[in-house]
Amino acid sequence: MEFSYLNPTQIHFGKNQIQSIAQDIPREKKVLVIYGGGSIKKNGVYQQVSTALANHHWLEFSGVEANPTVETLDRAVAVAKQQNVQYILAVGGGSVIDGAKYVAAAAMYSGVGWDILLGTHAVSQALPLGVVLTLPATGSESNAGSVITKAASNQKLFFSSPAVRPKFAVMDPDVMKSLPEQQLINGIVDAWVHVCEQYITRPTAALVQDGYAETLLKSLIILAKQYPDRDNDAWRANLMWTANQALNGLIGLGVPQDWATHMIGHELTALHGVDHGRSLAIIQPALLRNQLEAKREKLEQMGINVFGLPKSVDLAEKAVSEIESFYHSLNVATTLNQYQGEKSAVIATIVEQLQAHGRLELGENQAITLLHSQQILERAIA
Ligand code: NZQ
Ligand code: ZN
Repeated sequence: MEFSYLNPTQIHFGKNQIQSIAQDIPREKKVLVIYGGGSIKKNGVYQQVSTALANHHWLEFSGVEANPTVETLDRAVAVAKQQNVQYILAVGGGSVIDGAKYVAAAAMYSGVGWDILLGTHAVSQALPLGVVLTLPATGSESNAGSVITKAASNQKLFFSSPAVRPKFAVMDPDVMKSLPEQQLINGIVDAWVHVCEQYITRPTAALVQDGYAETLLKSLIILAKQYPDRDNDAWRANLMWTANQALNGLIGLGVPQDWATHMIGHELTALHGVDHGRSLAIIQPALLRNQLEAKREKLEQMGINVFGLPKSVDLAEKAVSEIESFYHSLNVATTLNQYQGEKSAVIATIVEQLQAHGRLELGENQAITLLHSQQILERAIA
């Protein structure tokens, strides 16, 4: 275990916290409020933000789409530069927050913004960013990561920099009341896989990281079981906090991390428009079966500590089946059933994209080669 750790995002959690943005954003700063397709106008969040910012000078940029595109975001970058914006407030889910992170970084860069995703520009400075979270899923509200799509080439790439980690995040679970079921379930699945990516690797001596990861997984199992009775404050608060903790950096400190499910899943989203959470449920069981020997010990640990299974020779296999059942209990598919064209051609295109994006050795052991990705896709695509 060796790491440096700082997570400075101030979190305001609970009802009526949106008003706190008035104090968190310095009064003299010119603010660009960034949001998505308009859900915040229907559920009262926009109104609460406008009221809180009554004494600030602010502009807005709307229309950031799910799986935000650089094409849209570059228009926001232009606004930020032309209007000398000094602070960015993202109001939305992972897409809006990730998009705002890109805008915050690209606004301080004179080159082509996509360089940030290609890694040819390393982000060391960005406009300060605050967040009002409306969808618990990604953890983006207090982490340093961002995933951006280039629609023109179906590329969905990732960048990370401490400079774009939000200064504050407002997490009022009441905002979840307007979430469509599909998005709520996407959030449960995404948070689940975030924990798995940092936990189902190989045994470590990291008792705290393992123990906390198991607690988060057990919380998500409870929330999934309670799903039919989800309309209450405790359920919403628990999901919002669990999803945040799943990817705020803590459980991944000093331990091996996988992320292959995400890398392959991102290609499914880019090419076939599958929601992020759902892309993960399609890839993960196939990937775990493909990597069963490398992950056997950790899957056995999960079987006992998370699912409460008895010891057996096929405990790892049973743990994967439990994971699959978890998705099925939420009516989430674990194979890609709807796509256009021949299965073999679909797989070939995904593998080509993985190759083009340099995803040649994925996973905690860099053992998932393109051949393994192909085998995984053979299982994952119906
Ligand atoms: O655009 P609006 O109108 O706001 O509607 C959104 C969108 O259509 C809607 N929504 C959000 N909050 C709502 C609401 N509808 C009603 N009531 C509310 N309170 O939900 C839809 C989906 O929103 P989106 O932000 O796309 O969802 P999510 O939070 O799941 O974010 C997914 C994106 O995050 C990336 C994914 O790749 C994907 O692009 N990820 C980011 C990560 C990170 N930064 O650390 C890690 C993740 O693994 C993930 O890759
Ligand atoms: Zn994710």
